Amino acid sequence: MRTDSAEPVRLKDYRAPDYLIDKVDLDVKLHATATKVVSRLAVRPNPKGRPGASLVLDGDGLVAKRIALDGRELDLQRLDPATALLTPDQLTIIAPPDRPFTLEIETEIDPSANTRLMGLYRSGSAYCTQCEAEGFRRITYFLDRPDVLSVYTVRLEAELAEAPLLLSNGNKIAEGKIEGTSRHFALWSDPFPKPSYLFALVGGDLGSIHDEFTTRSGRKVALGIHVEHGKEAFAAYAMDALKRSMAWDETAFGREYDLDIFNIVAVSDFNMGAMENKGLNIFNDKYVLASPSTATDTDYAHIEAVIAHEYFHNWTGNRITCRDWFQLCLKEGLTVFRDHEFSSDMRSRPVHRIADVRALRAQQFPEDAGPLAHNVRPDAYLEINNFYTATIYEKGAEIIRLLKVLIGDEAFRKGMDLYFDRYDGTAATIEDFISCFAETAQRDLTQFSLWYNQAGTPLVEVAAAYDAAARTFTLDFSQSCKPTPGQDVKEPFVIPIALGLVAEGHGDLKLAASDSDGASVAELSRGVIELTTAQRRIVFTNVASRPVPSLLRGFSAPVRLNYAASESDLLTLISHDSDSFNRWQAAQTYASRLLLRSVELVRAGGVSIRDESFSGALRRVLEDNADPAFAAQVITLPSEADIAREIGQDVDPDAIHVAREALRKAIGRDLREILLATYARLAENAPYSPDAAAAGRRALRNAALDLFVAGDPVEGASLAARQFESADTMTNEIAALGVLAHTPGRERDAALEAFYRAHEGDALVIDKWFALQAMIPEADALNRVRRLMAHRAFSIANPNRVRALIGAFAAGNQTQFNALDGSGYDFITGIVVDLDRKNPQVAARLLSAFKSWRTLEAKRRGLAEAALRRVAGVGTLSPDVKDIAERSLA
Ligand code: ARG
Ligand code: ZN
Repeated sequence: MRTDSAEPVRLKDYRAPDYLIDKVDLDVKLHATATKVVSRLAVRPNPKGRPGASLVLDGDGLVAKRIALDGRELDLQRLDPATALLTPDQLTIIAPPDRPFTLEIETEIDPSANTRLMGLYRSGSAYCTQCEAEGFRRITYFLDRPDVLSVYTVRLEAELAEAPLLLSNGNKIAEGKIEGTSRHFALWSDPFPKPSYLFALVGGDLGSIHDEFTTRSGRKVALGIHVEHGKEAFAAYAMDALKRSMAWDETAFGREYDLDIFNIVAVSDFNMGAMENKGLNIFNDKYVLASPSTATDTDYAHIEAVIAHEYFHNWTGNRITCRDWFQLCLKEGLTVFRDHEFSSDMRSRPVHRIADVRALRAQQFPEDAGPLAHNVRPDAYLEINNFYTATIYEKGAEIIRLLKVLIGDEAFRKGMDLYFDRYDGTAATIEDFISCFAETAQRDLTQFSLWYNQAGTPLVEVAAAYDAAARTFTLDFSQSCKPTPGQDVKEPFVIPIALGLVAEGHGDLKLAASDSDGASVAELSRGVIELTTAQRRIVFTNVASRPVPSLLRGFSAPVRLNYAASESDLLTLISHDSDSFNRWQAAQTYASRLLLRSVELVRAGGVSIRDESFSGALRRVLEDNADPAFAAQVITLPSEADIAREIGQDVDPDAIHVAREALRKAIGRDLREILLATYARLAENAPYSPDAAAAGRRALRNAALDLFVAGDPVEGASLAARQFESADTMTNEIAALGVLAHTPGRERDAALEAFYRAHEGDALVIDKWFALQAMIPEADALNRVRRLMAHRAFSIANPNRVRALIGAFAAGNQTQFNALDGSGYDFITGIVVDLDRKNPQVAARLLSAFKSWRTLEAKRRGLAEAALRRVAGVGTLSPDVKDIAERSLA
């Protein structure tokens, strides 16, 4: 166990390393319980470091067998404290030579006992590594920090039968049998200097598929994807996505791949999504394996995005890495931005934008509004693994998109080129990154950088006034941002507001500078207003009749927008806005207004509101023959969590559930005919394709089914049962099962049983079965989850199983996690404390389900706080869980 002191690491304390390690030679003899690692380091004093400083190498629970400095063995039994200090977590060479020297360290590690899944561990029978952020120190003593870049040579040795496949970073330069033994070896060399977090190795008996990609300058790259034997065919889509990613990065960003070989390995035990190790990406198999009958359309989209994300890291992350972990968003925010752009080009850009914004609001907004809020570039951390958050990733991506809106496409692309040119091969900072765009856009970006240094979601409030006599339309903008932990007062942000004025005949008014007061020519010609101060007024002149403002088009900035649009304005926007994001947004706004009022009524003991105009607007979208993927988004109501976030305080999850169900039912009844017609019209009639158009038709069909069932549970259930029985895609099968699972009775049990039997052998499909049951909003849900934990397919040691069953209950079952007797809270915190002993990272992640506890009504708030306090009071917590518990309570 690591014994971190409780002192946070602070950005302002950054110091260049005192030593650099130019070369690393690793010799790894794989063994299930006693793997031997010999590391030979070429060390030299850093000219930018402190002369004569001790060399302090990081370790984490290591056992050293041998240490030699410039060939001289240290006596580990009687270590002279004037020479060196050695603990499992640190190796200090007190007075190293004042010139280049070598250090040779032998450690012995037990990959089978590694339940934290950091460092070298086993997944099934394979050996694999995860080193980001600080896992390399669990393999050998090292300067385990991203600003120490080394060239690695890695020799792997293993039993040929146990691990015929031996992979590491870079190119393979030798391999062979070891004479007279049953063992073999492989020698890998990575010419690109890299930080230790990008090191990886894999050993095992895996099935492989191979392909090839020729870069635009003619380099032939051998591509390999390695999966469990028998799953090879399930990797075909990932391979296709990889080749498309490689081609896209050449055209969209001018970036080519730089090695002769690129390998991806899928493992079933993985803490996160995937890892961009140089030339050897290691993936959670959930983001590699797909077939029409086992993966949903959403799974396919995620695979495409994650494959692209990790591949894109080769430039944004690997060629240019981070100076320190405070700069994590330098690679993550930027790479998420790049994968969003890729997916938008591969699929429908507007639909993709809607999905990204839904995800941002669902994951990041609550983080930013609660006790775990932090800057996109944090300035202190206790445990860096707790900062792989939606704020770093998703908000980090949003502010790059915002930058692009501010400076325009051309200056943005030039700035990226400059960044790649200037910082290739280095460990950079956010300042380095921003300076490139300041240069190409010839613009001072000081205020823009506040997005990295101030937490919290800004609120933009807008008031509009039309003066018929003066023919003016006035928009008054104001911005504010609530305090977040450690930041009471915020400076105004620079907020680009893309907007249009929708006129009576439903076209956009042409905005000309001569027709306005307070906006520049450039702003009006682009349709983007920049807020830089707390308030701004714009007066449009010569406006013949009152227009409908369409604000924050395309979600041009990650803010909350508060504008009291009239209901009729919202209906106009749903039907006529030229910006499809805002068409969708208007429908969401309308629905959440209805729902907020209904929640009030329900809590006061009344019934919820009916509103036929809203149903009418949705009907028109369905009749319109709009893009089905888009229509599916429009008719999908805000989730219970969305509504809770909108309410923001004194939240009663039961009232939200009742109100939302009532609205679904009302819409289902009002739209019965068109829902049925849509369902019939979109019946599957071609062989399966995962492409966006086919996926969009399935999405709309299943969204129509969902609303239809709400209006007519009996006939709906029989439609769902038919769909369930005849489905030949997982998308349709799981959608139907979802409907059936929400209807208590024998049919539900039979369907769940049938699904289990059909997919028993496929852990990733069984995860869907776990998750779906964990999210049933019934009083019995927790008991069901407890029963399922005893199921033979469940394992607390596997992060995917934990997330599927327990994570889905905590994050996806609002009424039962927040049950009024506190049972949901006690259950989750109990699991967190148990799991913490095995896998602190996954335990800490699970505990962050409490991030919005302060917004609950008093009774639940008290119960949640008591549960959190019990966790915080446990004496043996990991730094990971301790940090989340304490910040949640602060
Ligand atoms: N860099 C990985 C990514 O692509 C995430 C790795 C995080 N792993 C961890 N143990 N914190 O996003
Ligand atoms: Zn990443």
